[in-house]
Amino acid sequence: MKDKELGISDLPGVGPSTAEKLEAAGIDTLLAVAVSSIGILTNEAGVSDSVARKMIQAARDMLDMGFDTADEILKKRQDVNKIKTGSLGFDEVMGGGFETGAITECYGEFGSGKTQIGHQLAVNVQLPKEQGGLGGKVIYIDTENTFRPERIIQMAQKVGLDVEQALKSIKVARAYNSDHQMLLCEKAEDLLKTGEYNLMIVDSLTAHFRAEFIGRGTLSERQQKLNKHMHTLLKLADMYNCCVMVTNQVMSKPNVMFGDPTQAIGGHIVGHSSTFRIYLRKGKKGSRVAKLVDSPNLPENECMFFVNMSGIDDKEE
Ligand code: GTP
Ligand code: MG
Repeated sequence: MKDKELGISDLPGVGPSTAEKLEAAGIDTLLAVAVSSIGILTNEAGVSDSVARKMIQAARDMLDMGFDTADEILKKRQDVNKIKTGSLGFDEVMGGGFETGAITECYGEFGSGKTQIGHQLAVNVQLPKEQGGLGGKVIYIDTENTFRPERIIQMAQKVGLDVEQALKSIKVARAYNSDHQMLLCEKAEDLLKTGEYNLMIVDSLTAHFRAEFIGRGTLSERQQKLNKHMHTLLKLADMYNCCVMVTNQVMSKPNVMFGDPTQAIGGHIVGHSSTFRIYLRKGKKGSRVAKLVDSPNLPENECMFFVNMSGIDDKEE
């Protein structure tokens, strides 16, 4: 990429004042312009629709964005890293762990282990690569007030991390409503730009949306907002090769008589934007079952694991 040589001031229609406005909005590279939308650019930089369109097109041209050959994509895939879960069975189902550059959605009923997996990944990503981590930091967006540093301490001790350091490496933000949640995700980009963060967790992705948009008349507005939110997350995952893990609740499908009568919230918007989808449920004797239900390259598969005091494991402690 020529991102380093050329900057946003090289784009048509971008004078010093426009450049300043774009930079203030965090749109400070050609790549950021290239993946932006006309609406965002007109809002943030006060340019007309046609100038915004030209800017985006020019940025894409300069970056040579368009078709890639399969071998180029293969090269990009080699940058994909994996974060281990603590359970060998779970890792195997995930083809080695939770991937960077993708969104993985964990959905399931209350107590199925979604939040615990989030905590475990937040610890494991800090481990060196040989131990299944990426030596990276974490952004944790907590919408339900269920982030617990005490759990981080227990899990960090088990894997042999320095506890103080483990806590310091997780940046937690409490989101108070869906707008706040979306804003926090956009702000997270400032942290991701440092290159120190490899994992971003949104727990829960849908709870605020579900609580705020009640009734049929509000469904399309909710879906539009969720769509925008997922788009932001996908962009962050892709631009910063970050692993994005989101949690989601289920609701019951009243008209299903056979099979599992539950489905994830957010419908096809969340489902289609997630790269990997994992359905979690409670299994026999306190176990949990994780089933990979959607993946671009892995077979549907499931495994059993346990949530112990010291974290996720194949066996009960
Ligand atoms: P909701 O957010 O309510 O939808 O559920 P969730 O899927 O996020 O559930 P969560 O990950 O919070 O799982 C809660 C379960 O984890 C509890 O029911 C316990 O079984 C287990 N758990 C949590 N903390 C501990 C702990 O310290 N020790 C042990 N052994 N298990 C724990
Ligand atoms: Mg939870």
